Amino acid sequence: MPRTKIAGIGMYVPKNVFTNNDLLKYMDTSDEWIQERTGIKERRYADRKNETTTTMGVEAATIAIERAGITPQEIDFIIFATISPDYYFPGCGVLLQRAMKLKEIGALDVRNQCSGFVYALSVGDQFIKTGMYKNILVIGSEKHSFGLDFSTRGRNVSVIFGDGAGAVVLQPTDDENRGILSTHLHSDGEAAEILAMYNPGTHANHWMPEKVADFDDAEIGEMFFSHSMIEKAQVFPNMDGQTVFKKAVIKFPEVIKEALSANNFQTSDLRLLIPHQANLRISQFVQQKLGLRDDQVKNNIQKYGNTTAASIPIALCEAWEEGKIQEGDLVCLASFGSGFTWASALLKW
Ligand SMILES: CC(C)(COP(=O)(O)OP(=O)(O)OC[C@H]1O[C@@H](n2cnc3c(N)ncnc32)[C@H](O)[C@@H]1OP(=O)(O)O)[C@@H](O)C(=O)NCCC(=O)NCCS
Repeated sequence: MPRTKIAGIGMYVPKNVFTNNDLLKYMDTSDEWIQERTGIKERRYADRKNETTTTMGVEAATIAIERAGITPQEIDFIIFATISPDYYFPGCGVLLQRAMKLKEIGALDVRNQCSGFVYALSVGDQFIKTGMYKNILVIGSEKHSFGLDFSTRGRNVSVIFGDGAGAVVLQPTDDENRGILSTHLHSDGEAAEILAMYNPGTHANHWMPEKVADFDDAEIGEMFFSHSMIEKAQVFPNMDGQTVFKKAVIKFPEVIKEALSANNFQTSDLRLLIPHQANLRISQFVQQKLGLRDDQVKNNIQKYGNTTAASIPIALCEAWEEGKIQEGDLVCLASFGSGFTWASALLKW
């Protein structure tokens, strides 16, 4: 059975830089508070009208395809991870297929939040290993700036997230010293509402003791989205940050160790850990817990904020462009986020 290698990688971040001080115009916060709790100094926001989650994905994918040394016409499957899709449906995969004029290939959208890219990579890995596809395009892209609550009410969430995209091309390799060694996927739905955007949705307040969606008593319809939901600000993401933090610092090290021990490696063998850029404090905690040196952990949340499904491919691409990953290096990708979901992938570059 062949292994799966990353044959090409690309990233795209919008030009528009939004510093912590820029947010002061909209909410009661401070540069000091944001940096101290999250490490974030600035993030990028997509052009309001001319950039979408898909168009940013196209930019990153174009670079990844070029670096893989193939043409867009050779791509035979698309996996698109995002939680901020252009449309509720259809997904971004088909929009990217159209925008890039790809063949009439399969397009799969993955909705696993911050773990979206590692889940997508794992799906692609299976298709390559079985020989079903030869050139799979995996994209993680987010345009969070479209719908965060930029008032003081939403500041615990809105200061954290940013926009951007990353993409890789997966190909088979017979080289035993290269490629994805294993992937490890997990979930625990007990905490689904801890970090979630409830509306629009079909839940009808079924899962939570308190009402999170206001809708009228009409016999049919109008439960998915209503004027009342907008008036009561029920259409924004919700997060219990402290619970997320506490769980993340347990699950990140756990899933990284799982990947290392599944392949008989130690933390000292790692050239680079690319953690999902959730929060710099979480990454530092994980680094300390695993006893990793500064040069073994990639962090760029300071510049881009948390870009959910895009954060790992952006960080991986940046690390590669900076020359921090060489052929044969052991690299671990690890994520934790809403769901809760967490995952890791261990690869030899
Ligand atoms: C979100 C997070 C930074 C909040 O930090 P915290 O120390 O837990 O802060 P709290 O939520 O307890 O709030 C502390 C105070 O800061 C205030 N606050 C919240 N956001 C603020 C902001 N952006 N600016 C200024 N003050 C803020 C709160 O209102 C609260 O004020 P109070 O004490 O007067 O009530 C932190 O919980 C965290 O990083 N969690 C992990 C989140 C994460 O990584 N999410 C992504 C997962 S993929």
